[in-house]
Amino acid sequence: EKAGFDHFMLKEVYDQPKAYRDTMGARIDASGTKVLLPEVGMTREQIADIRNVHIIACGTAFHAGLVGKSVIETLVRIPVEADVASEYRYRSPIITPQTLVIVVSQSGETADTLAALREAKRNGARVLAITNVVGSSIAREADDVIVTWAGPEIAVASTKAYTSQLIAFFLLGLYLAQTLEKVEAGYVKEVLAAMQELPKQVEQVLAQADSIREVAEQIAKHHNLFFIGRGLDFATALEGSLKLKEISYIHSEAYAAGELKHGTLALIEDGIPVIALATQEVLFEKTVSNIKEVKARGAQVYGIHMEGNDELSKVVDETFAIPQTHQLLAPALSVIPLQLLSYYASLALGHDVDKPRNLAKSVTVE
Ligand code: M6R
Repeated sequence: EKAGFDHFMLKEVYDQPKAYRDTMGARIDASGTKVLLPEVGMTREQIADIRNVHIIACGTAFHAGLVGKSVIETLVRIPVEADVASEYRYRSPIITPQTLVIVVSQSGETADTLAALREAKRNGARVLAITNVVGSSIAREADDVIVTWAGPEIAVASTKAYTSQLIAFFLLGLYLAQTLEKVEAGYVKEVLAAMQELPKQVEQVLAQADSIREVAEQIAKHHNLFFIGRGLDFATALEGSLKLKEISYIHSEAYAAGELKHGTLALIEDGIPVIALATQEVLFEKTVSNIKEVKARGAQVYGIHMEGNDELSKVVDETFAIPQTHQLLAPALSVIPLQLLSYYASLALGHDVDKPRNLAKSVTVE
């Protein structure tokens, strides 16, 4: 069942090219110009009536939600809030019948996410679920369900479910934008073409596993480290940090790179590892200046950038390139080295990769 891999997590990391293909599947029309989402039952009028979107989830699924927020705001120009379910439930959110609530859950059984879904429905909102489990509680209670076809995810640390959620958000964002004619047909075509390249590009990232393993073995010697990035890279930083904490028990923090100098820079000292994500072109120079700030304080910086932009290698100690893709899609590639990093760090420290201490795969209690 582990298909020759030592752990479910590693198998699931390598399952990702297939998970991307299956999640896109028949949802992109044959001409590559249109997103088809018959499972979203909203009419054009109902979509046009949406005033705001709330994205609710826990843990890794919440990080997918942060990417979803950017994607929907960028493509559809509707205000989106993203919340962790345990906060959303108790903060008296302003939910109206014109709110589209999107819940994201691999298992479809997370207690807080399910309760948030019910709260949203009580307030008259339409609820769309993105889940990996057909027939789960969340799938049954939502109005519309986009299934991520990642296949069963066994390891506690979520990998392929997360990236499939990203694919679902790309499709949904494009679908809403195309329905409301918020984007040019040529733009949709361009993003869809880039999406169809992703499975192959994930394989190219996976081919760098050996060098990522070396970095992981270095990192495993530390007790603290930082992940930094701006925009979509910040969402990826949060996910990379969670993954590392969850299975390697090494403390890390993810920081919006521009926030460092508002306090956290005080923690940067000689030799501390910093993983810096710089895949977003418009933010690149800004991130580089933050990298220089940590470098100047002695940090050991590992940078993740897009191929063809080699500027980063001049300022950091080591770089990993992800293949060139559309800016919005970068998280679907840049998270892969971070998944491998946490896997190999956990392995180097001799931890139980698939079953980290204190955690359960599905959190069905509050
Ligand atoms: O099944 P769900 O997606 O609702 O689970 C949410 C979180 O419990 C989950 O993503 C958790 O954060 C993962 N173990 C992270 O790898």
